[in-house]
Parts: sequence; structure tokens; C-alpha cells
Amino acid sequence: MIPHSRPSIARKDMAALSAVLSSGQISASAQARSLESAFSRAFCFGSSVAVSSGTAALHLALLALKIKAGDEVIIPTHVCTALLNAVRYTGAKEVLSDVREDGNIDPCCVKKLMTRRTKAVIVPHMWGSPADMKTLVKYGVPVIEDSAQSVGSSINGQLAGTFGAFSIFSFYATKMITCGEGGLVGAKDKKLMERVRDLSDYDHKKTYEMRFNYKMTDIQAAFALSQFTRLGEFAKARRQIAARYAVYIPSLLPLTEKAEPVFYRYVVRTKKNVERIISNAKAQGVCIEKPLFKPAHQYLAKKGFPVSEMLMRTCISLPIYPSLTAVEEKRVIGVAKNLI
Ligand SMILES: Cc1ncc(COP(=O)(O)O)c(C=O)c1O
Repeated sequence: MIPHSRPSIARKDMAALSAVLSSGQISASAQARSLESAFSRAFCFGSSVAVSSGTAALHLALLALKIKAGDEVIIPTHVCTALLNAVRYTGAKEVLSDVREDGNIDPCCVKKLMTRRTKAVIVPHMWGSPADMKTLVKYGVPVIEDSAQSVGSSINGQLAGTFGAFSIFSFYATKMITCGEGGLVGAKDKKLMERVRDLSDYDHKKTYEMRFNYKMTDIQAAFALSQFTRLGEFAKARRQIAARYAVYIPSLLPLTEKAEPVFYRYVVRTKKNVERIISNAKAQGVCIEKPLFKPAHQYLAKKGFPVSEMLMRTCISLPIYPSLTAVEEKRVIGVAKNLI
């Protein structure tokens, strides 16, 4: 079976892992600090903190913004429940926004949902394609940019992850770069990041307050750092596969001059029955999936999200990753072309 996602693990990544294991220093230390420095340099952050997951990164960013019970945070409905969870961890209330046809949060919906209780908007760049940051940052509410799916993508040459008050990343196994599980939060504002670092660890504190153990181990950090040095290679490989797929199967996210996606997902819209395509493709050895398992409004039994509903009915996602072989790629094209 050709899997829907597969990490690209090179000898270099394994050597980094092996070196950290041999060193005996496996908890958060020099490797985690090096990963943070590498992200701060690449994204012009005043400071970064490597953490145990993208969800932890979101939680800490919200806490550093002092978000609490009684506040509202706008999130898109069309994304995994990590965002909903992070908002609820703080006691604040999530306000769900519909998305545009490319899967990204719709700035017009966001504007209509804003109240005096709105304290932040979380903006994921979905499927590797940047959201409309230029419009969203003008609304005057802190934006937490969620680049979990889109590290390496850019808007007019400016990296996604450099627009918001905070940026978060995930290094889960399917992501652009991985260390199994992991995340990172960064911001230009060093003071806010001091608060993030303080809350991410409970030990050696002068005074007590409720804190978290969200640290990333050096085992994860060494691996993630090695993967980060390969990000350019990964993004290029994904774009090349996307260009070859596009000859036969048009993507929902075309390569344009303005937004430069990294094709975390190759999403296709179809008029055919999505469930039937998925099961027929599986029977032929290709794992095609829905790009999103279930939107937040469906979990919460809420209505009124027509674009998200339409995307759930019509979208599929093809295997696309740097470790996809030429033979596998041809097979995906053959099977998908016939079914779509
Ligand atoms: C857009 C987005 N944000 C946040 C997360 C949460 O990241 P993690 O699984 O590392 O907690 C994910 C999923 O991995 C995601 O796709």
C-alpha cells in the first residue's frame, strides 16, 4: 500500500540522533537551544521555545497573551481539533469561522465574528498554502500564525510564520519536517517569549504558579534540527511532484506568484463520490484520504459553515511527500486519474 504520508529519514538524521544518544544528554538542553536558534534566525523571531507538540505551542502562545475564561478566540472550523483544545485549555471560548474555498480561514467571516471579547485569532496555513495574513493582521487583534502544515511556504517571498504576533510549528510524523512529535513557538517580542519559556517548564522556579512540562527532549531536537536543514530539499521535492500531478489532476491550490505553497497536501476537488474514490483507491493499493477528518463544527453539532461542508463533501488528498518513489508516483497518478 502506498501510504498517505511517510517521513523522509536520511542517514544524516539518524547520525544526529545517534550522536545525541551517545552523548548521554537526552533531556532538553543544547540541541533544543540550537533548534530554537535556527528557527529564530530563519523567521526573524526575537526568541523561540521548542516544545513537545504543536498543541503545546498553541497553548503557551494563548497563555502568554493572557487569554482566559471570558475571552473569545476565533479559529477556523476546517482544521483538526488541536486549535479547539488549546483554546479550551485556557478556559476561553472558541468562536468558529468558516473558510475560503482553498481551505484557509475567511477574513470576511473573521471580521463579522469579532466582538470586544475577541482576544486572538489563530490562523493555520492549511495544506501548505498561506492564508491571507496581510488582511488578518490589520484587524487589530493578535494573530497566532499556525504553520504546523506549512513551514517553508511564503507570500510574495515573505515566509509564512513571520506575519503574526506568534508563530507555532508542529513536528508530528506527517508534517513537513518531523521528530515524531514536537513543536515550537516563536515571536518577535522577547518579553512574551520569556513568559512562554517560563510556563513551558516547572522546575527551579522562585515562586509557585501553575506551569507545564512542555519541554522538547534533545533526542527530538537533534532529529528536528537535522530535518530543518533539509526543508528546502523537502519543499522542492513536494513542488516537483505537485507539478507532475497537475498535468493529469488539477490541484485545489495552484502555484501562483503571490502565494508559494509547499504542498503539505495535494488536495483535489471532485464531483464524484469521495468515500467511493477512497475505498476504490485503497483496493488498488493507494491510500487516498480526506484532507481533514472532521471539522470542529461537526464535532460540536453546529450549523452554518457552508464552505467547510462543501470541502468535506468534495475534497480528497493524494499521497505527496519527498520519499515517494517515481514508481509510486506513477501509480498514484494512474489510480487517481481513473477514479477522479
Ligand atoms: C494546523 C495544525 N495546527 C496544530 C496541529 C497540532 O500539532 P500537534 O499534533 O503537534 O499537537 C496540527 C496537527 O498536527 C495542525 O495540522
